[in-house]
Parts: sequence; C-alpha cells; structure tokens
Amino acid sequence: MSLAGTRVLVSAGPTYEDLDPVRFIGNRSSGKMGFAIAAAAARRGADAVLVAGPVHLKTPDGVRRIDVRSAAQMHATVLGALPADVYIGAAAVADFTPRNVAPAKIKKQPGHDTLTLELVRTPDILADVATHLRRPRLVVGFAAETDDVAHNARGKLDSKRVDAIAANRVGVAGSGFESDDNALTIYWRGGEIALGPAPKTTIADALMDFIEERLAS
Ligand code: CTP
Ligand code: CA
Repeated sequence: MSLAGTRVLVSAGPTYEDLDPVRFIGNRSSGKMGFAIAAAAARRGADAVLVAGPVHLKTPDGVRRIDVRSAAQMHATVLGALPADVYIGAAAVADFTPRNVAPAKIKKQPGHDTLTLELVRTPDILADVATHLRRPRLVVGFAAETDDVAHNARGKLDSKRVDAIAANRVGVAGSGFESDDNALTIYWRGGEIALGPAPKTTIADALMDFIEERLAS
C-alpha cells in the first residue's frame, strides 16, 4: 500500500472519432495496458481514476472509471479530473478528428468514386496536463514507435514537458496492442530501463515501482 494517499490518474484505450451516426475512425488499442496500470495503482492503495475510451474490459477492483468516446471528451474529462499526483497517459488518442460530423449517414454520391475526409488535429491531452496550472508531480506518457525508438521517445520527453516516456518496443514477439504481453522501455532525463517482455500486469507493477521511486526522489 505504498501509494496510499496518492491520486493516480490514468487514461487508457483508443478514442473513436465519429464521421456520421454509424461510422467512426478508431484504432486497435485494447486498453489492457492502461487498465493493468490503474489496477496496479489501486492495489498499492492509490486513489486510482481511470479515463477509458471504448473498450470491452472489466473495471479493475478499487478503480474509479469514467468512460469517454472521443479525443475531445477524453481531453475534457482528464483535465476535469485534476488535481492528481500522477498522470499516466496510456491511451491511444486519435491525432486527427473529422472537421464535421455528418448529422445523417453519409451516402454514396452517383458519379463520385472517391470521398475526401477533412481531418483536424485533436488537443494533446498529455502536453496539456504537463503544462497545466495543477500539473501532477509526475507526468508519464506512452509512445508507440516503430523506428528510432530512443530518439523519438526522448524527443517527446522534451516536446511534451513530461517526466518519463514509456515506449512500446514494437516488433518484440508477443508485444503490442491486442496482446496480453508487452515490452516497454522507460526513458527519463536521468536514464532508461527496459521492462519485459512480460505480461502487462507484470509490466504495470514494474512501472508502479518506477513511479514510487520517482515520487520519493
Ligand atoms: N497523446 C495525447 N493526446 C493526443 C495525442 C497523444 O495525450 N492528442 C499522448 C498519448 O496518450 C501518449 C503520448 O501522447 O501518452 C504519445 O503519443 P504518440 O501517438 O506516441 O505521440 P504523438 O505526440 O501523438 O506523436 P506522433 O503520433 O506524431 O508520433
Ligand atoms: Ca499520435
């Protein structure tokens, strides 16, 4: 129970960006990593708040869960849940959303064999938390990188003003979106540590060890 008295805010899962009443743009995040992190925080006695995109997962014991759908909703809900001691941005937030949501189902137009969607940038939740007036003491982001992992992850440390970035080592057997296993490297200004490959619950516990150490230092 070494996180007793600490509020840990976690985002998890994908976001869905609606195009019309029946269609959306989404991604393949299962939410398992973020849910495992919230569960690990709760097991250690934290007040764990989980802002979840659309996923089919059971709420972990002792976790307060708030469901959202879009990046805009996740942004408002996460910022509204501050203050917190720790923010962990494990969600796979859509970077772009349709400029307009059609009020009725988009129909094929006779004679048109292409459709162009105009997408606009979503707010960067992680960067906004990290520069917030009520900034948590520790802000941890995730990064899904396919190449140049260390360089890109360290770049995000600075560009988003966060304390640590957990980069998925994609390509490692068994790691990734829908898997129960994962392999991460945590980068912070003072070093780096490789976790896994291991079950996401084990990775989540190792991440909590890291967080407890950082909070204590
Ligand atoms: N993130 C966020 N809000 C967004 C986009 C990303 O909070 N609109 C967060 C994610 O939750 C993650 C971190 O930013 O913790 C990094 O996400 P990633 O997709 O790797 O980086 P981006 O900054 O979106 O850059 P890019 O996708 O272009 O590499
Ligand atoms: Ca992105």
